[in-house]
Formats: sequence, structure tokens, C-alpha cells
Amino acid sequence: MQSGQLAGKTAIITGGASGIGAATAKRFVEEGASVVLADIQAEKAEALSRDLGASAKWIGLDVTDPDDWAAAIDKALEFGPVTTIVNSAGISVPGSIEEIDLATFKATISVNLEGVFLGCKIGVAAMRDGKGGSIINVASTLGVKSGALFPAYSASKGGVRLLTRSVALHCTEQKYDIRVNTILPGAIHTEMVDAYIAAGEQSGQTRDQVIDGFASVHPMKRLGRPEEPANAIVFLASDNSSFTTGADIPIDGGYLA
Ligand code: NAI
Repeated sequence: MQSGQLAGKTAIITGGASGIGAATAKRFVEEGASVVLADIQAEKAEALSRDLGASAKWIGLDVTDPDDWAAAIDKALEFGPVTTIVNSAGISVPGSIEEIDLATFKATISVNLEGVFLGCKIGVAAMRDGKGGSIINVASTLGVKSGALFPAYSASKGGVRLLTRSVALHCTEQKYDIRVNTILPGAIHTEMVDAYIAAGEQSGQTRDQVIDGFASVHPMKRLGRPEEPANAIVFLASDNSSFTTGADIPIDGGYLA
């Protein structure tokens, strides 16, 4: 479907090689945007970029590295002024407070929160003097309601929600034409969830039991599909959401209701 909601937009999508980021890249191109797939998995980003055609480029990027961000901005400028940053890169390593070590906690905060901080900081600098823009941060329902196995992940995603609000308020105060929003996905069937399925299988559960376990906590009794959060990101990137900033939008089958 090509309706051109994003015609003329140039987006950097972190985590663009996989899952929600990859689905977002596909939807963005369908809607007329140019995209830079920025991911630590450079080969996967390159392959998807090739599939998406002339509207897509790729770059190897570690979201925690400011130099990589500067290179991603330069890459996007080959299309035109940057209008959109989607911060989708993320990691999830489950483990209770008694199981998780400090190194894992720090790594989670580094990728999931510091990486989004850099995306916002560099995004605002790139967009404030241009034709305006939109930053979309991918947090999680686990940034609102936690679970015993997610001290690091929930801390990082709760941080993303409030970081988003602060950046949104700053941009409006400064009269920058930049909106900043968060989406809160529930369980979405991507490689991140596949890793949980594999771990469940190793501990004796069947694949269906693990999937049913995820599905059962969502009122809609199913996992989400990557294109479902991607469609919300399209809305937030488009001018259709022109009065929306500092918001957290659940894409969660009713989980937070
Ligand atoms: P995914 O594992 O399919 O994709 C994550 C991508 O991030 C991968 O391509 C990975 O290479 C990339 N990445 C990881 N560390 C990176 C780094 N340091 N620099 C650059 N890229 C890096 O997972 P999914 O599900 O697409 O996750 C996307 C976002 O959605 C994440 O922030 C995740 O926490 C969030 N999320 C996912 C949910 C789910 O159920 N799948 C639920 C709620 C939030």
C-alpha cells in the first residue's frame, strides 16, 4: 500500500536490521520515506537495504558510540535533511535482581537508555534548524509495569519514557518543530521473543507453551506482529500526528488497560 504519508522524509532507524526496526523500515519506504538502516548487525542491514531498493541505505552503528551516530547523520544527508529518528535498537537479558550481574545491568542501560539519549541528542541537533522532525523511541510495556525477571530492562525502558518527555518539553519550549514520542509494545513476535522461546524450550517447555504464556497476559490473547508497532511509528513520524508530543502509546493488545 503506497499512500505517501511520509513522502519527503528522511529517517535513521536504529535496530533497523531486525524485528520492529526492520518492519518500520519497510513501512516507511512504502509510505514514501528514505531510510538509513543503522544496526550493529551490518550484514543484515545491508541485505534488507538491498531488498528495499533505492530509498534505503545502511550503516553499521553501535547506538552507544557518538562517532557512529555522526556517521549515520552523514549517511542520511546523502538523501537530504534528517527529519526522523526511530530508536528501536535494544537488548533484553532476563534475570532477577539476585541473578543479574552489574555488567549485564550496565550493558542494558547502555544500549537501551544511553543509546536513546544519544539518538535524541544528535537527532535534535540535526533537526532543529532544518524542516522540523519527529523522534520515536521504542520503550516497552515493561517500562510501565515490570516483572521479577526484568530489573535492568524495566529500568532502561522506564528511563526511555521519561527521557522522551523531557526532550519533548525542551523542543516545544525552544520552539523547535520537533516532536518526541514513545511507543510501548507488548510482546511482539520478533527475534527478541524467539530468544525467549528458545530459552523456554531449553528448560523443558514446548514452543507453543512459551508462546501461549506470552499471549495469555495480553487481553487479546496473542502476540503482536512487528508491523503493528511499525504502523504506530509511521503515524508518529507523519504529519498526521502534528499535535502529539511527549506521549507514550501502548501497542499491546490491551496489556496496560
Ligand atoms: P530484535 O532483536 O529483532 O531487534 C533488535 C535490533 O537491535 C537487532 O537488529 C540488533 O542487532 C539491534 N541492536 C542491538 N544492540 C544494538 C546496538 N548496540 N547498536 C545498534 N543496534 C543494536 O528485537 P525487536 O523486538 O525488534 O526490538 C526492537 C525494540 O523493541 C527494542 O528496543 C526492544 O526492547 C523493544 N521491544 C520489543 C518487544 C518485543 O516483544 N519484541 C516488546 C517491547 C519492546
